[in-house]
Amino acid sequence: MRRMALTLPVMLMVVLDLSLPAQTASQDTAPPKPAMATMQVQTDLNRLMRGVFYPPSNVVFSAQNDNPAEVKRAPGQDPSMATDPLVSTFGGWQAVENAALALSESANLLLVPGRKCSNGLPVPSNDPGWPKLVQELRDAGMKAYTAAQSKNQDKMLDAADTLSAACASCHKRWRERKLEDRCK
Ligand code: HEC
Repeated sequence: MRRMALTLPVMLMVVLDLSLPAQTASQDTAPPKPAMATMQVQTDLNRLMRGVFYPPSNVVFSAQNDNPAEVKRAPGQDPSMATDPLVSTFGGWQAVENAALALSESANLLLVPGRKCSNGLPVPSNDPGWPKLVQELRDAGMKAYTAAQSKNQDKMLDAADTLSAACASCHKRWRERKLEDRCK
């Protein structure tokens, strides 16, 4: 664990390119080439749900029962290594805010063209119902964000209801059926 913690700054340096000398002003006056802005799909919808949407929704749902301000770290637990956002460096209510924002923002991933469902059928993003359900998810995430900002658990209850309804209405329409009929 200690070793991983020590390598983190190195990883950051690589990601941020801090190790390289600052770029000197170029004589070349040609405008910089635009970055390739191509979106890419790496996984199917089911894995996207498991990896991206499921973890933050549990953080939001947890705030119904457990006051995020009172969630305790295990003695000696290093917050920078926590796998539970609630006890991480960005823990407590802020973790709930961040999870809600992550859900809203990640809704865009449901619209990236070229993704398949686990049965090989394309994600039904051309169906007029799909973007509406995606918007419902975005709105539910933002409602949870506002509720988390207020640090009010009654508001969290209401927001969590809205969020689980947003998940459920899409699942009812596109998932809850035989595998081969999902996304049809
Ligand atoms: C716009 C539609 C849509 C929304 C919104 C949506 N899902 Fe999904 N979800 C699906 C579909 C469709 C599948 C099945 C995908 C497949 O088989 O490839 C799925 C699958 C899943 C799975 C995988 C289940 C398993 O047994 O493998 C999880 C977990 C999941 N969703 C969680 C959520 C949560 C939590 C939310 C709300 C925060 C949510 N989803 C919102 C469409 C949606």
